[in-house]
Amino acid sequence: MERLDKIISSQGKYSRSEVKKLVRAGLVTLNGEKVKSADVKADAERDTITVDGEAVSYRKHIYIMLNKPKGVVSATDDAVHKTVIDLVPPALYRQGLFPAGRLDGDTTGFVLITDDGDFAHRILSPKNHIIKTYHATLDHTLSAEDIIAFTEGIDLRDGTLCLEAQVKMLSENPPVAEVKIHEGKYHQVKRMFAALGNRVTELKRVKMGGLDLDERLKEGECREITAEELEIIQNR
Ligand code: URA
Repeated sequence: MERLDKIISSQGKYSRSEVKKLVRAGLVTLNGEKVKSADVKADAERDTITVDGEAVSYRKHIYIMLNKPKGVVSATDDAVHKTVIDLVPPALYRQGLFPAGRLDGDTTGFVLITDDGDFAHRILSPKNHIIKTYHATLDHTLSAEDIIAFTEGIDLRDGTLCLEAQVKMLSENPPVAEVKIHEGKYHQVKRMFAALGNRVTELKRVKMGGLDLDERLKEGECREITAEELEIIQNR
């Protein structure tokens, strides 16, 4: 059981002090009864709560898919740049959101934003690292030897050895490759191609685990990830 004001404010729409005001105005009900005090205890999963006539559909955590544009940083706050959290619309916003994994400032595509630290740990820990799929526009097309080098594990120029990865060309003009990696080293995709004497000019993450970036999302747009889709992410 938790305080009612805490339960309602955890869902993002109202702050704790707003909930107190709404209670005083007689606009909050618990199991059909008007609530007299914001510190009354409730069971978030079982009780029926309404605010201003609207049912509060309680979710312990939220999972958001963002199509990240260039120039936005994968951080929770930044003194200079817009962050991925700044792009979360008010209807999905709540305290404690963070990006589960980072993309470079100039990389676009799928960023998962959540307030569930355990889930983020599960998908990012080296042991379970889910496959992430990128489309990389290159300086020049890949040779057969380059493709073999990816499958054998590329040695980055500083001696770091990458796990095996899959790569295939999607188009030749411009040269665009699809790359699937199982880990998340700093600038990994760009450095893998650099180690082969190539250069990534555009990079987009198009898939996390088994879940594709929703192509209906324009750059900068977000939507909530469903429970079924969360499972798909974890199906590497
Ligand atoms: N690899 C990179 O080089 N950059 C990214 O943003 C993600 C993967």
